[in-house]
Amino acid sequence: MQVVTISGFKGGTGKTTVASLLGVAAVKNGMRVAGLDLDRNTRNLSSFLTLRRAAKLQAPDHIMLMDLDTDTKSKPKHSGRLEPLIRMARMDGYDLLVIDTSSGNLSDVYEAHLLADVILTPMNESPADMHGLFAPTGSLAAPKINYREMIDTVRFDRRRAGLPMQRWHVVMNRISALPSKIGSTISDRVVAMSREAGFETMWRLRDRVAHRALALEGRTVFDEPVDGRLTMSELAGRSEVRSLLAILDAPVARKMAA
Ligand SMILES: Nc1ncnc2c1ncn2[C@@H]1O[C@H](COP(=O)(O)OP(=O)(O)OP(=O)(O)O)[C@@H](O)[C@H]1O
Ligand SMILES: [Mg+2]
Repeated sequence: MQVVTISGFKGGTGKTTVASLLGVAAVKNGMRVAGLDLDRNTRNLSSFLTLRRAAKLQAPDHIMLMDLDTDTKSKPKHSGRLEPLIRMARMDGYDLLVIDTSSGNLSDVYEAHLLADVILTPMNESPADMHGLFAPTGSLAAPKINYREMIDTVRFDRRRAGLPMQRWHVVMNRISALPSKIGSTISDRVVAMSREAGFETMWRLRDRVAHRALALEGRTVFDEPVDGRLTMSELAGRSEVRSLLAILDAPVARKMAA
C-alpha cells in the first residue's frame, strides 16, 4: 500500500481537490483506495466522500480518526495515532491511502508526513503561496510556521529511524489558461527552489470551472457526465490528473494504468 499525504500550510491551495481527484481516479482504475481527512475544521474530504456515497458513485472508503488533535504546544511532535490506522489499512489490502490535511502543524498532520511514501504539496501561481512554502527562515517573508522547515524535520526523523527518503512533489495548481508574467516568474522560482529544497517534478493542474462545478455534487471529471456529454475541458482535466499517477510507485502506477 502506498500512503500519499497532501499538504502545505497555506490554506485554499487545492489540497482537498487534489485528494478527491486522485482518490477517484485510483478507484476508477480498479484500486482499493482509502481516504483519510485530517482537516478538523472543514472536513471537506469527508463531505465529498459522503456526497459520493449518497449519489451511489464509486468512492474511496472513508476512514476516520476520531477527536482530531487541537494544538501542538502541549503535545508530542507526532500523535502516534496514525501508525495503527495505516497498519490496519495495509492488512485490509488497500492499494492506496490518500490523506488530506489541514493548514497547520498539528501532531496528526506531522505524523501523516512522517509515514507518507509520497508528499504532494499544491500551490497556486501566487507569491503568497510561494512564500508560505519556501521562505527561508528568518527572512521578512518567513511565515510563523515554515512548511519547508517541517519537511526538513520529517526527513531528519526518518533518517534517524532508518527509513528511506520519501518523494516530495509540488503541484502547481489552478494554472491559468492565459500565460502571465507572474505565472512564469513563480514557476521559474519554484523550479530553482526544487534543487535546494529537494522536491521533485512539478505536476500542473489547470484552473477548470468543471472541478468546482462537479464537486458541488461530489462528482469529478472521471464520472459519467449527467447529460452523457464530456466537454473538452473535462477530458483534458482527466488527462492532467492521470499524469499524476506516474509519480506513484511502479506497481501501483502499473495497476492504475491497466
Ligand atoms: N484546479 C482547479 N480548478 C478549479 N478550481 C479549483 C482547482 N483547485 C481547487 N479549486 C477550487 O479552489 C478552492 C480551494 O480548493 P480546496 O478546497 O481543494 O483547497 P484546500 O487546500 O483543501 O483548502 P483548505 O486549506 O481550506 O483545506 C475550492 O473552491 C476548489 O473547488
Ligand atoms: Mg481542504
